[in-house]
Amino acid sequence: MENKTTRRDFMKSASLAGIGLASLTGSRVKASPNEQLAVAVIGIHSRGTALAEKCAQIKTCHVKTISDVDKRYWQNTVRSVANVQGKAPQAVQDFRRVLEDQAIDAVIIATPDHWHAPMAIEAIKAGKHVYVEKPCAHNPHEGELLVAAAAKYNRVVQMGTQRRSSALSQQMIADLHNGVIGDVYFAKTWYSNARPPIGFGKVSAPPAELDFDLWQGPAPRTAYRDNIHPYNWHWFWNWGTGEALNNGTHAIDLARWALKVDFPTQVTSSGGRFHYKGLDDWQCPDTQTMTAQFGDDKMIAWEGLSCNKFTPEKSGFGVRFHGTQGAIVFQDDGYTLYDKNAREIKTIGSKEIRAQSTNTVDPGVQDTHMENFLQAVSGGGQLNAPIDEGHKSVLICQLGNMALRSRTAILCDPKNGHILNNPAAQALWTRDYAPGWEPTI
Ligand SMILES: NC(=O)c1ccc[n+]([C@@H]2O[C@H](COP(=O)([O-])OP(=O)(O)OC[C@H]3O[C@@H](n4cnc5c(N)ncnc54)[C@H](O)[C@@H]3O)[C@@H](O)[C@H]2O)c1
Repeated sequence: MENKTTRRDFMKSASLAGIGLASLTGSRVKASPNEQLAVAVIGIHSRGTALAEKCAQIKTCHVKTISDVDKRYWQNTVRSVANVQGKAPQAVQDFRRVLEDQAIDAVIIATPDHWHAPMAIEAIKAGKHVYVEKPCAHNPHEGELLVAAAAKYNRVVQMGTQRRSSALSQQMIADLHNGVIGDVYFAKTWYSNARPPIGFGKVSAPPAELDFDLWQGPAPRTAYRDNIHPYNWHWFWNWGTGEALNNGTHAIDLARWALKVDFPTQVTSSGGRFHYKGLDDWQCPDTQTMTAQFGDDKMIAWEGLSCNKFTPEKSGFGVRFHGTQGAIVFQDDGYTLYDKNAREIKTIGSKEIRAQSTNTVDPGVQDTHMENFLQAVSGGGQLNAPIDEGHKSVLICQLGNMALRSRTAILCDPKNGHILNNPAAQALWTRDYAPGWEPTI
């Protein structure tokens, strides 16, 4: 620990002396090969606990702190992390205490979406490396700010699109990039589920254990209602981003990776709250299609059905790739290759891929995304989902929602995804922030 502090002091004085930190990027020098990284997990109700347990399993780090505005969730996570790593993390309600803790190297953010970029930016400014869940931002403005903050403060920032670190998707992408189906020009992505209605929320006092003001943070204030927290905030524009960014991000990220495309030239979308229309408060679409075109020769489409599980495929999540010589259908348990006459050639199953896995931390598990992040923080390799790539995938989904909400087709500058000549859509590029909570870098 002595050497670690010394290095931090050095970084601080290097920074004050105007010495660039570029040479130190993502290369935290450990005092010894056995020294563990200290991480904090912020937002622990559901996804955060899974990530905290994962961190606790990884020998190169330990969970020093967990943070949640709702104290009701602390005990379960403290206990489950302690069971894995043999030591209980401390629990704090206000994440700013985490950012002040000089002993913490990295934060994992699994809060609701409206917090992702503002919190990640504050963490970066406090010198932390960041693993931020998808979608990395609530709107394009703060997505761009987050990318700029990671560059400005030279921090390692990974988005939680874990398929980027799965051996199955990596092998499929290698096959596609090696031309197994010729030139890939179209990806059809989909998600379907049977989410129930969420009812009409009753305005009431927030539970005593919940700091609802801090839960709202950068979002304009509303009264507490009993059907938004936990989880159902996903379906309200003030905090959530709908299924398009919730599950669309994962699939569109895979598609963009396969097609080797960055920013789109055109985005369209249609949909609405169709399935349970008028039966609850849910604002975002439960039925939606989006298309993103890239120049004259490539396209990605997404179909999201939050409340209708039927799918002609095996799984509610997947991507179908079409190329000049055939097609591939990807689902999380494997991918199947077809020739150009739609004859099935072979299926590569995730079980076989897992059996070949050389990952010793999580043998057989497909999600090695956290290990990838921690290795990059320790200076041991490239990120699989760096924030600038994450932003590109999230931006496509944001533009889809903006096209839907403005009822326009959006034309974009392919250099950066900026909107061309469309004031109605442009008005949604950023959001109103609660006074004092505007993200800045
Ligand atoms: N990568 C994946 O496959 C995957 C899977 C599930 C969820 N997620 C993402 O993880 C995030 C969390 O999802 P969830 O289902 O766990 O949501 P959730 O609502 O169940 O949990 C969010 C937690 O964050 C806490 N929180 C809110 N504001 C906070 C603050 N300022 N400081 C500390 N804690 C705060 C809440 O109290 C709650 O406990 C979402 O953005 C979601 O998209 C990703």
